[in-house]
Amino acid sequence: MAILPIRLYGDPVLRTRAAELDEVDRKARRLMGNMTDTMKQAPGIGLAAPQVGVLKRIIVWENDLEKGSLANPVILDREGQVEGDEGCLSMPGITYPVVRSEWILVQGFDDSGEPVKFETRDLTARIIQHEIDHLDGILFIDHLPPELRSEALGVLRDLSETWEQQEVAR
Ligand code: NI
Repeated sequence: MAILPIRLYGDPVLRTRAAELDEVDRKARRLMGNMTDTMKQAPGIGLAAPQVGVLKRIIVWENDLEKGSLANPVILDREGQVEGDEGCLSMPGITYPVVRSEWILVQGFDDSGEPVKFETRDLTARIIQHEIDHLDGILFIDHLPPELRSEALGVLRDLSETWEQQEVAR
């Protein structure tokens, strides 16, 4: 297993749509494992493949209650709306409240390539919605009302300068 470098806000890969997998092969399985390690080490509770520079439709998550990984995830149904704070490993340092569906029905393929379909709610539903957004080049700040979004962009502009200094220092 390996810890992969996480792409940060401003990297065009985060704004690009990721492609469906034809199958969950050994390479995809290894990526899921490495993404899980990378997420846990960050530490974070969710990660999408574009965040490690891979434009494939793969997400992983782990919180106190549930963990999993999915290829080609699709939300089939959703219910309710709930607001909750979100952050993102590609945008370290900012947290904003985002409205998400409270309950979702999800389908995809697990790490053995088996088709799975399950329902989940609250935090896990929030994470999965956030990560699937990443596969479509959507970031959580895109869901903010205009005023909050421009505030977030301002903070990100300042923060990204410190990221660049850290990159140079590394
Ligand atoms: Ni994120």
